[in-house]
Amino acid sequence: MKKITYFGHACFELNWNGKSIVFDPFIRGNSLAKDVNVKNIMPHLLLLSHAHSDHVADAVEIALQSNAECIAVFEICSWLQNQGVTNFHPTNIGGKLKRDELTIVHTPALHSSSFDDGTYGGIAGGFVIKSERESIYFAGDTALFSDLKLIGEMHQPQWAILPIGGNFTMDVDDAIVAAKWLGVKQVIGMHFDTFGYIQIDHQHAIEKFKSQGIELHLLNIGEMKELD
Ligand code: NI
Ligand code: MN
Repeated sequence: MKKITYFGHACFELNWNGKSIVFDPFIRGNSLAKDVNVKNIMPHLLLLSHAHSDHVADAVEIALQSNAECIAVFEICSWLQNQGVTNFHPTNIGGKLKRDELTIVHTPALHSSSFDDGTYGGIAGGFVIKSERESIYFAGDTALFSDLKLIGEMHQPQWAILPIGGNFTMDVDDAIVAAKWLGVKQVIGMHFDTFGYIQIDHQHAIEKFKSQGIELHLLNIGEMKELD
């Protein structure tokens, strides 16, 4: 059984095959996520898509308190190491890691990546998490790009977690095209509402997806959803 919990913005916890995997923690800086307690987030794996602070702000705290294995590009792992994190595994686009029954594939994204102080953050990416028969795609921040077709062909995800807020990433219309290229019928939206630039009309987004035969799920912050 797979389940996912939303902690706001691009931060999710995926529980699958006994593993807790957290993506892109940005909680204490997100006023919409004020009811989420960072201290309770204790994953086995911490995956970071890119270095922007709205994706890594709480990464060091969570890594240190949980001793989660952090998986990210080399440059982000170096940044973690400089802050005392010791359990990390650097990868890059195209890298695959097996962790028990799950395989993590580091996929490309069309986006920038630097830390708040301007330090280069490596290349922005996303992740596919796969078991033998199923897969989930977490896009990270990205524009619509044609290699989503390749990700669909190679990994055939049943679920995709896609940015839908526009301005910095895909918007709803582009995410519908992305879902088609990926071949998914179930999408979980992320990267919306947190800032003024990315506020969306929820009902309108859900209906647009529905008109194309795709279900868009917009979770409330703190909400858990079973994915089967
Ligand atoms: Ni970003
Ligand atoms: Mn972002």
